[in-house]
Amino acid sequence: MAVRQIRVIGDEILTKKCKPVKEMTKRTEDLIEDMFETMYQADGVGLAAPQVGILKRIVAIDVGDGNQYVLINPEIIEQSGEQTGYEGCLSVPGKTGIVTRPNHVKVRALDAEMNPFELEGEELLARAICHECAHLDGQLYVELVEGELMDVEPAEESTEESGEE
Ligand code: NI
Repeated sequence: MAVRQIRVIGDEILTKKCKPVKEMTKRTEDLIEDMFETMYQADGVGLAAPQVGILKRIVAIDVGDGNQYVLINPEIIEQSGEQTGYEGCLSVPGKTGIVTRPNHVKVRALDAEMNPFELEGEELLARAICHECAHLDGQLYVELVEGELMDVEPAEESTEESGEE
């Protein structure tokens, strides 16, 4: 396992569309392990493969609900409601902004063994799923920010809704 370098905004790789994963390989298993390690080291709640420079449709999420979610080739199949709150991204360090997202989403994906499953999430988990899936299509939350992108105050206590993804 290793912490990988997180690509930051301005890096062209973050704007590219990622390719579906066709089979699980040792290389991809290692990538997924490294994504979690990289995410935890950076205090994030979600990380997408392109953020570590790999153009594959893989997402890692841990919003602190006791689960490590691996979403391979995820497709959001249902969304409802609305939540408006602060969002951040490990690829946009030191910044935050207000984004409106669905409050509830259902996503269909493959797990780390390439078995299909569905995951439903609300609030922060729904936000993280939307944010990470957007990374796979080369989209950053900064395009969705209402008003200005703001600096994170160093002394500001993070709230539940402001996990960096
Ligand atoms: Ni992000």
